[in-house]
Amino acid sequence: MRKKIVAGNWKMNKSWPEAQALVHALIEKKAMIPAGVQVIIAPPAPYLQPLSVAAAPAIAVAAQNCSQHDSGAYTGEISSVMLASMHVNICIIGHSERRQFYGENNEIIRTKVDACLRNAITPIFCCGELLAERNAGEHFTTVAAQVKDALFHLSAEEVSKVVIAYEPVWAIGTGVTASNEQAEEMHAFIRAFVSKNYNQDVADSISILYGGSVNAANAAELFACPNVDGGLVGGASLKADDFMTIIQAAQ
Ligand code: PGA
Repeated sequence: MRKKIVAGNWKMNKSWPEAQALVHALIEKKAMIPAGVQVIIAPPAPYLQPLSVAAAPAIAVAAQNCSQHDSGAYTGEISSVMLASMHVNICIIGHSERRQFYGENNEIIRTKVDACLRNAITPIFCCGELLAERNAGEHFTTVAAQVKDALFHLSAEEVSKVVIAYEPVWAIGTGVTASNEQAEEMHAFIRAFVSKNYNQDVADSISILYGGSVNAANAAELFACPNVDGGLVGGASLKADDFMTIIQAAQ
């Protein structure tokens, strides 16, 4: 059964005191989290361990990225083995900013998905087209290639453990969100694509989140789309009140 999930991607924001204050503000409001909605925050790596303690059990903590390698001479990297050993069991993989600024291609992202699953970490696998690709009518083929290359080597059991986030790149941090129709159309397409490669049960077990300028005003409409199972929220997850409104919209 697919779950409703609202995940906040903090990206490279917040000092340590600010991060603590945000988590405290969210925890103070934890009674407002609807039953059945899983809430996740993805703070910067240095804060993962202390915030996972401060936020538990109402809110889970996710890493924003991890290495495809388990250990070794990879200066600056953090492995999924390390995350798992710190009880961080969720990791965003293949965010468009990783693709754009750090050269992550579908092949690298596939190996990162594998590293997560190998270490019992739930990958939140991100996909989404550029504006030029949408304007050229290539958004379905782009997203299909991303999903296929990163996920379709997995067994049905493995792929069922993945959360997919559809994040059109033109909607990330721009204030321009996909319309409800555009979001639903792509989410339905991704689910049908997974069903075709695996089966309907597998497709129905995968949560597909929408990301890209989700805010307190538009979340309820987006999350009401039948194939949208919640959101991956950037900017609006940095304010406790806005993030809580978005969490409630996933009910
Ligand atoms: P945004 O970011 O909500 O600020 O557009 C979403 C994301 O990058 O995950």
